[in-house]
Amino acid sequence: MAANDCIVVSNRGPLSFRFDPDGALVAVPGGGGLVSSIAPLLAGTGATWVSVTMGAADRAAVEQGRMVDDSFTLLPVAIDDETYRSAYDVVANTTLWYLHHHLFDLPRRPRFDRHWRLAWDGYRRYNQVVADTVIDRAPQGSTVLVQDYHFSLLGAMLAAARPDLRAVHFCHIPFADPNMVRVLPEAAVGELLAGLAGFVACGFHAHRWEAAFRACYADPVLAELAGTATAPPSFVSSLSSDHEGLVAEAASPECARSVEALRAEAGGRRIVLRVDRVELSKNIVRGMLAFEELLMAYPQWRDEVVHIALVYPSRQGLADYLAYGAEVTHTAERINHAWGTPTWTPIVLHVEDDRPRSLASLTIFDVLLVNPVRDGLNLVAKEGSLLNGADGVLVLSHEAGAWEELSEAALGVNPFDVAGTADTLHRALSMDPAERRARAARLRSLVLGRTAADWLDDQLAAAAQ
Ligand code: G6P
Repeated sequence: MAANDCIVVSNRGPLSFRFDPDGALVAVPGGGGLVSSIAPLLAGTGATWVSVTMGAADRAAVEQGRMVDDSFTLLPVAIDDETYRSAYDVVANTTLWYLHHHLFDLPRRPRFDRHWRLAWDGYRRYNQVVADTVIDRAPQGSTVLVQDYHFSLLGAMLAAARPDLRAVHFCHIPFADPNMVRVLPEAAVGELLAGLAGFVACGFHAHRWEAAFRACYADPVLAELAGTATAPPSFVSSLSSDHEGLVAEAASPECARSVEALRAEAGGRRIVLRVDRVELSKNIVRGMLAFEELLMAYPQWRDEVVHIALVYPSRQGLADYLAYGAEVTHTAERINHAWGTPTWTPIVLHVEDDRPRSLASLTIFDVLLVNPVRDGLNLVAKEGSLLNGADGVLVLSHEAGAWEELSEAALGVNPFDVAGTADTLHRALSMDPAERRARAARLRSLVLGRTAADWLDDQLAAAAQ
């Protein structure tokens, strides 16, 4: 199945812009796992990439004709700030992200008030404007690969106007259980389920999320709200990073320098690592509390281990994210104050995004802690398993989609069980070298067994059926 001529749709595209202090436009390559995994696969194939402007700098770049890339035909869709805030901040990241990750604090939130209804209108507008671009520009019979929860309504919109298109949706996050979907206002449930049902197929990283999706259409209350819409065909296909690209990047001189710097910070001690964006679903605070319990319950590890936490800013427009970031920093400071010595800082916290340092850290950890409360896949678990050269142990949440693939070689944890996570960290740090080696080798071969190209092929095959 060839990728040429297909159209990718995602909120964040491969190219973005910011203004420098003098007001000049500066290009910023698109960040995040989705873009860095898909871009190398589609570069130079003739693919078109539809994404939206994420602010004034992107809009200015579009107006000045600078939103161009050698590897793709870019079709940027200009979105005004108010619509973007409604769609991205309120609906995509505060409603749907919380819904699908089961993050609502139900006694207090969500509150679907009139302000929220206007935001949902904004989300629908944002989906429609992107749908209109595809409707106007897609050649007859094209394959359209729609990425993520930002575009849940696109399926029905495209099916109504362009039944010739083969549009597939791929959800990179979990899908909520039916009881959680019932929290959404009834009209929104109807639009969401009908919107997704309009796709030729919907894909997920793990069987659990696919099962939850199908269960929504079978739930009596939700099915009635969905009207005539029934569950579309679905499939499971997990994403992988660009293996060769990642290995080459990790071998770069910048990464080598970062390895030295991280080793100096660890001071010869064992390293329990985490690398995450600061997102509530990532469970960073409980990870630190588990590390503290490790020091409490297993005193032999005091001054023998450091927890390196590389946690980078995400979605800074959202108050909850800022508050969570502050909680992460306070927790690290408190633990360091309580347990540190003049020569040992138990938690080494870095909060500035630094890709060479992240990749470098993955090559040297003794234990990689990936303990999300719920996660569509978690590419860090796979990237760490691929890059690590120290027979590192992966401690992985049962609630990450990657658990389905890596469970036989990782140590599993319940992400809510702080004491249990501490016990598992102890088990990982105490593991004998032969078992470490065997598990690390198995992890690596599991990761190498699936490529990003397999993931793309699965979407193309689903579109062709
Ligand atoms: C995470 C999710 C992706 C999602 C991305 C959006 O990485 O795993 O599914 O597309 O967040 O992030 P952004 O920074 O664009 O909001």
